[in-house]
Amino acid sequence: MNFPFKNILLGITGSIAAYKSIELIRRLREQGATVKVVLTCAGAAFVTPLTLQAVAGGKVYQDLLNADNELQFSHLDLARWAEVILIAPASADFLAKLSHGMADDLLSTVCLASDAPLKVAPAMNQQMWAAAATQANIALLRQRGAQFLGPAQGVQACGETGLGRLLEPADIVAQLQSSTGLLAHLHIMVTAGATREAIDPVRFISNRSSGRMGFAIAQAAQQWGARVTLVSGVVALPTPFGVQRLDCISAQDMHNTVQQHIAGVAVFIATAAVADYRPATQATEKIKKNTAMLTLTLERSPDILAMVARLQPKPFCVGFAAETQNLRDHALQKLHNKNLDMVAANWVNQADIGFDSLNNALQVFWRGGEQILPKTDKLTLARQLLTLVKQRYGCATGTR
Ligand SMILES: Cc1cc2nc3c(=O)[nH]c(=O)nc-3n(C[C@H](O)[C@H](O)[C@H](O)COP(=O)(O)O)c2cc1C
Repeated sequence: MNFPFKNILLGITGSIAAYKSIELIRRLREQGATVKVVLTCAGAAFVTPLTLQAVAGGKVYQDLLNADNELQFSHLDLARWAEVILIAPASADFLAKLSHGMADDLLSTVCLASDAPLKVAPAMNQQMWAAAATQANIALLRQRGAQFLGPAQGVQACGETGLGRLLEPADIVAQLQSSTGLLAHLHIMVTAGATREAIDPVRFISNRSSGRMGFAIAQAAQQWGARVTLVSGVVALPTPFGVQRLDCISAQDMHNTVQQHIAGVAVFIATAAVADYRPATQATEKIKKNTAMLTLTLERSPDILAMVARLQPKPFCVGFAAETQNLRDHALQKLHNKNLDMVAANWVNQADIGFDSLNNALQVFWRGGEQILPKTDKLTLARQLLTLVKQRYGCATGTR
């Protein structure tokens, strides 16, 4: 995919994370972008103009009121040149300046003088981030259309842990990429992983789903600009960057979570291996092994996909069918019986694909068409599936 921006004005402010801007510039240039750097006075205390000039391959702009500037209106030239303004790292102080429309240094003046989209990657101590003043400034900037990239959670340079770390340069680049991606502005909900149905307080019924396929779809959709809600069963996977994750345990939990968050979702992709049956009753105490045989009575769990497909208006619904026989027949039956828009079927009795494997292969069906997506890694497959979803979704809504 082509990188969406050619002329990037990068503002670097006075944060300890300013050193990461060196790698950021390198990565932006690798995407074919020209990067012009504007450095605040405090920014220059953390990273030298000489280093930045060498990596950016051009002058680093610092002064607003300098009679030696070759152009008297360099702030306006920079403002007009920029296709996008990226502030990374953005200090708490700079957010305050921006939100109040101040223009007392070169970077704040360029921001005020430009109509280019503003992307802000904050970096600060977690307490500074949480401060009511900072949060009010952020709310105001968001309201005016600024897009925030991060911050990330984790251990901070000051030794504290919390929200406020600068996103990794690769993630900032991915965020810029996704802001104009194939799925930009589409809200996609993905369910993933296995549910657990309690037998008693310590035992449960579950299945072998690892959640990898659904997590890969969530990651790929996010990278292509979708707003992604990932409703996850019990898995051992990290949350893909930029994805909203809602954790559930049982089929009933997942049903309720989906129902609560489905409003406004354009595409619903159900990869979760939801238990079809659950114990009809759950013992409140641990069941003792004092009988030779134990009979469990199972009842049907709620059918989440069918519930979503009955909504009016209904999202574009994609079901997954894990099959060990008659894959095509079962997939088509599911498509028609549940009133779905697409079914992605996969074999789960082959050693090197499907459940718990890094690879998968899919046979995708929709009304009047089908396509085989041959065996590959799950992220690649996720992108191929999302390309089909986008095409079919475009046909269904009359937009492309
Ligand atoms: C060692 C050190 C690290 C700092 N790191 C940060 C930081 O990560 N984020 C932040 O908002 N401010 C940080 N500050 C404070 C800013 O540098 C200070 O508020 C400065 O005025 C910001 O100026 P600017 O917004 O014009 O770049 C730090 C200060 C020091 C001394």
